[in-house]
Amino acid sequence: MKKIKYLKKITPLLFVITPIIIIMGWTTTIIGELIRRQHKPSVFCPWLISEQSITPLKNTKHLLVSAYTDQRLGGFDLRIIGVFKRDFVDPLYCSFCCAGFVSETTPSIILPHSDHFGFPYGTMDVLCRIPDNCDATYVTLLTAPSTVNISEQLWIPIRNKKAPKKAENELNFTVCISTLFGDYNNVLQFAQTLEMYRLLGVNRVVIYNTSCGPELNRLLKFYSQEGFVEMVPWPIDKYLNPSRGWNFAEHGGDLHYFGQITTLNECIYRSMERSRYVLLNDIDEIIMPYKHDNLNSLMDSLQPHPNVAEFLIENHIFPKKYFEPSGRFHLPQWSNVPGINILEHIYREDPNSSYHPYKMIVQPRLVEQSSVHQLLRNLGEQFYVPKEICRIIHVRVALLKSLQLEELNEDKRLWDFQEKLIPNVDKVLRRAGLLTED
Ligand SMILES: *[C@@H]1O[C@H](CO)[C@@H](O)[C@H](O)[C@H]1NC(C)=O
Ligand SMILES: *[C@@H]1O[C@H](CO)[C@@H](O)[C@H](O)[C@H]1NC(C)=O
Ligand SMILES: *[C@@H]1O[C@H](CO)[C@@H](O)[C@H](O)[C@H]1NC(C)=O
Ligand SMILES: *[C@@H]1O[C@H](CO)[C@@H](O)[C@H](O)[C@H]1NC(C)=O
Repeated sequence: MKKIKYLKKITPLLFVITPIIIIMGWTTTIIGELIRRQHKPSVFCPWLISEQSITPLKNTKHLLVSAYTDQRLGGFDLRIIGVFKRDFVDPLYCSFCCAGFVSETTPSIILPHSDHFGFPYGTMDVLCRIPDNCDATYVTLLTAPSTVNISEQLWIPIRNKKAPKKAENELNFTVCISTLFGDYNNVLQFAQTLEMYRLLGVNRVVIYNTSCGPELNRLLKFYSQEGFVEMVPWPIDKYLNPSRGWNFAEHGGDLHYFGQITTLNECIYRSMERSRYVLLNDIDEIIMPYKHDNLNSLMDSLQPHPNVAEFLIENHIFPKKYFEPSGRFHLPQWSNVPGINILEHIYREDPNSSYHPYKMIVQPRLVEQSSVHQLLRNLGEQFYVPKEICRIIHVRVALLKSLQLEELNEDKRLWDFQEKLIPNVDKVLRRAGLLTED
C-alpha cells in the first residue's frame, strides 16, 4: 500500500519534471552551439568591409589606415598602420577573417612612431600574429579578446599577400607625396616636377589628397587616368582637426601636418612588394642626380651599398624671389597657368653650417618606420649621398632670408633637361585643358 501511495504521489511530478529536463537539454545544446559559433571559426565573415583609406575603429578614438602582411619580424606577421590617440593605448586584439570564417583573436603589440611633434594623435603600428592555418583576407581590432560583438566591426583588407609577381608590378622608382591640402593650386611647378620625375626614370607617383585647387585637380585627374599618378583619398579632416604646421606648441591641432608621417609610412608599405626604391620628398622638391642622366644610373653607381635602407639627399633651396635675368624660359604659353616656373629660378642657397635638412631614397624592404627627414626603425644602413652627386632642387620661399643674391650659387642643372621637359609639360597641360592656345 505504501508503495502505491508513493507512486501515485510522484507520477504527476514526473509529467512535469521530464519535459523540463528535456527542454533544459535542448536549451543547453542551443546555447552551447551559439557560444561555439561565436568562438570557433564557424561564423561567416566579413560582414562590413571598409574600402576607405581611413576607417574609424569602434569603441575607440583611433583611425585604422591599412593592414599589410610583414614577414620580416619573426612571430608577428601582420602590421596595421593607424592614426591613434596617443594617450589611449589600452590593449587591442586582432581578429582575422580566414577565408570566410572568423578566427580566434590574437594579442597585439602597439608600436608608436617616436616622431609625433607633441600632437595628441600620432602614427601607430599594431603588430599581430596571423593564426596558424588561417588564409587571412581581412582583419579588425577589438578592445577585448572576445569576438561576441564581432558583427558590429568594420573589416579592413590585408595587403601585400605575396601575390605572384606581375611584370607591371616591377617598378624601379616610386615617389610618395604626402598630404595635399587646402586650395593648393601650384599647377605649373607640379606639372614641371612630375615631368622632370618622368625624365629621371620615376615610374609611379603616389599622392595623398585631402583637397586641392581647381586647376590642380584637373591636372591630377588627367595624370591619374593616364596611370602615372596614383591618387589616394585622404579625408583626414572629416575625423580630426589636422594641423597645417609641424609643431604642436606653435600650430595647435590634433595631428602633425595633415598626417604626413602616416601617409609616408602607408606609401612605403604600399610600395614594398612592387617598387625597388621609394623617394620620400615633397612635390616642390626634385631629387636630382648631378653626375648621371637619371636615377637608375645614379643608383647603379651607389651599388656597392646593397644593405642601405636610406640614402640621404641634401636639400637645397632655390628662392623663388630671384629670377634668372635673361627671361629665356618665361614662356608665353605658361602665362595663364597658376604656379611657379622652376626654370626661372637658378640661384641656390648653401645650407648654413648648423642645419642640413635631408630627404630620402629608401629601399622599402629594409624600412620598418619612417619620419620625414630620416627613418625611425630600419633593417639596414644609412648612406649620405655626396651633394656633388645628387641634391634636392627645392624652389620655394627663401629659407635663409638674409642671404643676398651675390651670396647664392648659380645652378642651371634643370636647364640640361629643358629640350625634353618643355614640350612634355606643354603636352600634359594641353591635354588637361590648361594651356592657353593662341
Ligand atoms: C558587446 O556589446 C555590448 C553592447 O554594446 C557591450 O555592453 C559589451 O561590453 C560588449 N562586449 C565586449 C566583449 O566587447
Ligand atoms: C627598371 O630598370 C631596369 C634597368 O635597371 C630597366 O631595364 C627596366 O625597364 C626598368 N623598369 C621600369 C618599369 O621602368
Ligand atoms: C582631391 O580631393 C578632393 C576632396 O575630396 C576631391 O574633390 C578631388 O576630386 C580630389 N582630386 C583628385 C584628383 O583625386
Ligand atoms: C641655420 O638655420 C637654422 C634654420 O633656419 C637656424 O635655426 C640657425 O640659427 C641657423 N644657424 C646659423 C649658424 O646661422
